[in-house]
Amino acid sequence: MTTEPEIRKGLAGVVVDYTAISKVNPETNSLLYRGYPVQELAASCSFEEVAYLLWNGELPNAEQLAAFAADERSQRSLDDAVKRVIDELPLTAHPMDVVRTAVSVIGALDPTWADASPEGNLTKSVSLFAKLPAIVAYDQRRRRGLDLVEPDAELGYSANFLAMTFGEVPSKVVVDAFDVSMILYAEHSFNASTFTARVVTSTLADLYSAVVAAIGALKGPLHGGANEAVMHIFDEIGSADRAEEWLDAALAEKRKIMGFGHRVYKNGDSRVPTMKAALDTLIVEYDAPELGELYTALDDAMQNRKAIKPNLDYPSGPAYRLIGFDTEMFTPLFVASRVTGWTAHIMEQLASNALIRPLSLYNGVPERHLE
Ligand code: SDX
Repeated sequence: MTTEPEIRKGLAGVVVDYTAISKVNPETNSLLYRGYPVQELAASCSFEEVAYLLWNGELPNAEQLAAFAADERSQRSLDDAVKRVIDELPLTAHPMDVVRTAVSVIGALDPTWADASPEGNLTKSVSLFAKLPAIVAYDQRRRRGLDLVEPDAELGYSANFLAMTFGEVPSKVVVDAFDVSMILYAEHSFNASTFTARVVTSTLADLYSAVVAAIGALKGPLHGGANEAVMHIFDEIGSADRAEEWLDAALAEKRKIMGFGHRVYKNGDSRVPTMKAALDTLIVEYDAPELGELYTALDDAMQNRKAIKPNLDYPSGPAYRLIGFDTEMFTPLFVASRVTGWTAHIMEQLASNALIRPLSLYNGVPERHLE
C-alpha cells in the first residue's frame, strides 16, 4: 500500500532552493539584505546604495556609487513609444496594468532582450530601476490631466521620483521617508512575485518576461496589492472611533483584513517598526494626527480580536497617502522598489538554474476510454 505524498498547499513551509540575497528569519523577526540588517541599511544608506548591494553583493564605495548613479540617472527618460502606449491606455486601466504593459513594451523595444549574460541582465535591471519612476509618475499625472515632468539628473533617486510625480521636490522629511519605504520594499526572499520571477527564469525566458510575470503576481491583494487595500479600508472606516465596529463587522463576514498577517513572520513583520517610524515623521510633517489615531485604533482592535500583527503594507499605505500618491498608485510604488529584488533573484536563478516544475496528485475521474 503506497502512502500518498503530503500535499503542501501554497508551498507553505517548503524550502525549494538556496538564496544569498536576503535572509528572512521569523524566529528572530529579522531581515538581512546580503548580511546587513535592513534597519541599518534604512538608517544609513540610500535606496541607490541598497539596489547596488542587492545586485553586486557589496555596498558601493564612493567611486562605484558615483558611476552607478551616473548610469542610472542617464536612463530615467521614457522612450516616446512607451509614452505613446501609456497614452493609449484608458484612465480606467489599473495603474498596475499600466506598469506591467510599459515594462513589456520596454522589453519589446530592447534589441538586447535575449542577452542573459550577467552583464546583460545587470544592464537591463538598472534600466528598469531607472525608468519605473517615470512610468509611475507619468501615470499619476496623466490621471490628473497634468503633463509629464522630465527627470532631473541633478536629483537622487527618491527626490527625482517625487519631483516627477508632484512637480517639485518635497521636504527632506518626505524624501527620506519615501526612500526608507523603497529600501524596505526592495527584497524579501521567495515571496510570491519573486518566486514567480524565478519560475519564469527557470525556463530560460528573458528578464523582461520574468519581471512582467512578477508584476502580475504582485498585483494581488494577498501580496503587493495589500498596501492599496489598506488605504481603502482606512477610507471605509473614516475615523478612529469607528475602527472597532468596522472590524467586528468585517471579521463577522470572514474578510481578510488587509495589511495584517504574513506567511513567514508569525510574530510581526520585522520591517514594520522602521516604516511606522517613517510614517510618524510624515504624520507630524503633514499635521495629520487623525490618521495616526486611526492606524493605532485598527491595529489595537485587531490585536484584541485576532492577535494578527501588521505587515509592511499597513504603515506604507497611509505614508503614501500623506505624500500625495493616488491610492491605486501604491502597488506600482512597490514594483519600483521590488524590481531590484526580482532582478537580483533572476540573475541568481540563472547562475545555478534548474527548471522549476513541481508535481501534482491526480484526484480527477479514474481512467476511462472512448467507446
Ligand atoms: C506581502 O511573502 C512575503 O514576503 C510577502 C511580502 C513581501 O515583502 O514580498 O511580505 C509582502 O505580501 C505582505 C502580505 C500582504 N497581504 C495582506 O496584508 C493580505 C491580508 N493577509 C492575509 O491574506 C494573510 O495574512 C496572508 C495571505 C498574508 C498570509 O496568509 P497565510 O500564511 O496563508 O495564513 P492563512 O491565510 O492560512 O491564515 C491563517 C489564519 C486563517 O484563519 P483560519 O481560516 O485558519 O481560521 O489566520 C487568519 C486566516 O483567516 N488570517 C487572517 C488574516 N491573516 C490570516 N484573518 C483576517 N485578516 C488577515 N489579514
